[in-house]
Amino acid sequence: MTPSKPILAPSILAADFTQLGAQIQLCTQNGIEWIHCDIMDGHFVPNISYGPMIVKATQNAASDAFLDVHLMIYNPDLYIDAFIRAGARLISVHAEATPHLHRSVQNIRDKGIKAGVAINPATPVRTIEAVAMDIDLVVLMSVNPGFGGQKFIEHTYERIKELVKIRRERGADFLIEIDGGVGPANASKLLQTGADVLVAGSSVFGAEDIPARIREFQDLMRPA
Ligand code: DX5
Ligand code: ZN
Repeated sequence: MTPSKPILAPSILAADFTQLGAQIQLCTQNGIEWIHCDIMDGHFVPNISYGPMIVKATQNAASDAFLDVHLMIYNPDLYIDAFIRAGARLISVHAEATPHLHRSVQNIRDKGIKAGVAINPATPVRTIEAVAMDIDLVVLMSVNPGFGGQKFIEHTYERIKELVKIRRERGADFLIEIDGGVGPANASKLLQTGADVLVAGSSVFGAEDIPARIREFQDLMRPA
């Protein structure tokens, strides 16, 4: 996947679920093309979020948006079909949550959608090397997954550089997505270091004025 411009992917985890459709539309009406969906099973991560029904509702509210589904669940292979039926255009599995990472990636791609691999902050970046040519995205976690609103881990910048190097050496073309603790204060530096996609939950949906916050990101993310 080669992006023409940096992408902001708001995570609905931080949205007001009593107004989910309206909040998603606030995003799409203000230039958002990707929506990030965080799926948590209460086992791989210490929290439970939502499943395919909410992903489907998200698709209904934003029919043209690219649904970027981040599975923080064990046995992800069992749920790939359900999330594709719900509208996922890209599914990421955690390298730590599946014993056969290559097979999980292949299972996703065989269904005709894009595949990503997510890695936790303490997982070596080189874990993705063996599948570097088979994936469309790497989700580099910049917090320990499970909750929105956590503090960004500064060591992530080093990890982005490492990932950029692996991508270049391998001739791969996956996008680098940063997930957790992203806001206007670190967006520019993340892009300058090599990120392609920024996930933002609480900094978008926790803002007093969501469209204004999106514009703030867009200004910071405009290529120089
Ligand atoms: C963390 C999730 C993130 C989270 C980001 O487990 O994967 O996508 O929603 O939330 P913020 O932007 O609030 O850190
Ligand atoms: Zn996520």
